Amino acid sequence: MTEPRHVTDASPIKAPTLPDAQIVTSVDHWTDRLFSFRCTRPASLRFRSGEFVMIGLMGDNGKPLLRAYSIASPSWDEELEFYSIKVQDGPLTSKLQHIQPGDQIILRPKPVGTLVHDALLPGRRIWFFATGTGFAPFASLLRDPQTYADYDEVIITHTCREVGELEYGRRLIDGIRQDEMLAELIGEGFHEKLKYYPTTTREQSAKMGRITDLIRSGDVYADLGVDPIHPDRDRAMICGNLAFNLELKAMLEEFGLEEGANSKPAQYVVEKAFLD
Ligand code: A2P
Repeated sequence: MTEPRHVTDASPIKAPTLPDAQIVTSVDHWTDRLFSFRCTRPASLRFRSGEFVMIGLMGDNGKPLLRAYSIASPSWDEELEFYSIKVQDGPLTSKLQHIQPGDQIILRPKPVGTLVHDALLPGRRIWFFATGTGFAPFASLLRDPQTYADYDEVIITHTCREVGELEYGRRLIDGIRQDEMLAELIGEGFHEKLKYYPTTTREQSAKMGRITDLIRSGDVYADLGVDPIHPDRDRAMICGNLAFNLELKAMLEEFGLEEGANSKPAQYVVEKAFLD
């Protein structure tokens, strides 16, 4: 396993020269398969926590090569943050993984997506279910004051193959818990509301297993000391690989939750974690 590596640059940020470009301000390599980076934010960009935008690099043919990426930073942050997989032969991420502070990335400032508070009806408790880089939209929502204003309980589950893949999320949760300014911003009492449930499936860790199996067995309720999922009180957002999304969606439907959308809010929403 590789150690996380943080790359930043203290020199002044230069103005971008390409259309729709932003400047990378820092890069963190979490494992040999995962990295995150921060960049400048267009002054005009407004988004709702949980939404995604198209980002990418200029291709060798002079055309932009773009993919959908969830914005991992909260809407109040003056920079933008993204969390990405590295695919060695992936058209975009094979190049994107080498970006450095000061480099330009292209960003189309048209945020969209279904993992937004507006797509859910009011409830008492919200579950954020993620696998792998599907954690990204929740990194935004977990730093959004509305999340704690709308719900009495906020539960984030993150299932990855290996322990190192949990690190980005783990540090983010630690950061939320320790950062007093953030605590003030996102509201009093959030410490008691936020519950974090990381699990691994292919490397030994404190809690092993797919979250779907841990819900079925009741482990997750027992471990967190919470009541089972019920449509009257629970709302959920799902973001991960396709098989996980489909399986969890079917389970939530079985529990009586209905899928919501921006145009018709309901009890849960789902979005694919975008892969190269
Ligand atoms: P597993 O290792 O048992 O396949 P990936 O890296 O392939 O996107 O997977 C991320 C995590 O999602 C892995 O821990 C994987 O578990 C888990 N996962 C894959 N499919 C499902 C599913 N249908 N339900 C729940 N978890 C799943």
